[in-house]
Amino acid sequence: MGKSGSGKSSMRGVIFSNQLARDTHRLGATIDVEHSNVRFLGSMVLNLWDCGGQEGFLNNYVSSQRTQIFTNVAILIYVFDGTTPSGSAEWEKDIRYYEECLSSLRENSDDANVWVLINKMDLVSRDRAERDRMFEEKRAELEKRSNAVQVDGKEVKPIRCFATSIYDESLYKAWSSVIHTLVPNASLMQSHLTHLCKMLSCTEAVLFESQTFLVLAKSGSDLDCDETELEEYERLGGAVGFNRKRFEKISEIVKEFRHTCRRTMEPFVNWEMRLPQACIALDALTPNTYLMLVSTEPWVEPHLLMLNIDQARSHFDELAKPVVKTRCPICREHEACKYEGDDAKASPQDFWQEVTA
Ligand code: GTP
Ligand code: MG
Repeated sequence: MGKSGSGKSSMRGVIFSNQLARDTHRLGATIDVEHSNVRFLGSMVLNLWDCGGQEGFLNNYVSSQRTQIFTNVAILIYVFDGTTPSGSAEWEKDIRYYEECLSSLRENSDDANVWVLINKMDLVSRDRAERDRMFEEKRAELEKRSNAVQVDGKEVKPIRCFATSIYDESLYKAWSSVIHTLVPNASLMQSHLTHLCKMLSCTEAVLFESQTFLVLAKSGSDLDCDETELEEYERLGGAVGFNRKRFEKISEIVKEFRHTCRRTMEPFVNWEMRLPQACIALDALTPNTYLMLVSTEPWVEPHLLMLNIDQARSHFDELAKPVVKTRCPICREHEACKYEGDDAKASPQDFWQEVTA
């Protein structure tokens, strides 16, 4: 949701329909609500409602269509136009609509999570510090006003706020954060990636969804963590100096590259790179995911990483399923994952020896 022209349909096109950002200027205003079912990670279907933001529609959503729109919502993504100056009458009006929507949501789906995206940041200012300052100002105001929207005195969940632009990687960062909360077995994937990463003497293993190229999970520390929270093996592997925007940049680069491949009728298969500081391999892991391995060890070659991705494939395939039947001890011990295997005695060493044999 969000007012007309803030960029909702453009985001949907770029993330889920492989549309190029520069082609979104052709989009017309959305009339009422556009429903779409997006297949994600193969078996998951995201039911996306793109709600047209013209005033007449916004008024209807919070009045006559209130229950219909706000019942059974898992996530509300509210998009603001970042070019609207804070403190202006227009900004105040935008926030009032937002508060109305939030109140309707908390009344009808009190478990829903809320993401607020302040979009079109590329148009805000050329000066990065000024842009950051303007975003922080908006974020602080929105957080404060969101916390004040209480229904029946119930405790409110904090909102998550991101600065975005469809023209850079910030869009992928925000949407990866949304998607990450919807992925089943995300923490289990993280444990497996960490184990794989350590076993292969890698610094980082990152899992992407193959259609959207959004980040699903990464090895070691959490996706958004600070450098001080890195795990020991990540620090030793040189992750301290890594660019903090690397995940969303890769998402953006690979999607752009796939467009180019499509234009030249060449299928995108995989990607490997040898740099002075590291070597990187990115390849399909399961039918719905791509795995990227990064190693800073001078003796590791990209094709070796490719070979290891190939070896890990069959095991990771299992993780997309609600019931894991492998003998893997990580799966078996993970409380979020139901294990139905019959070999209770298998040790981590046994399993990984089998996988890597
Ligand atoms: P309604 O359907 O009327 O509610 O509008 P909407 O929120 O869906 O807006 P839409 O996605 O149609 O975008 C409106 C215009 O803004 C398009 O011309 C987009 O190209 C442009 N736009 C969207 N996001 C951005 C952005 O991050 N930066 C810039 N510069 N332009 C953007
Ligand atoms: Mg639209």
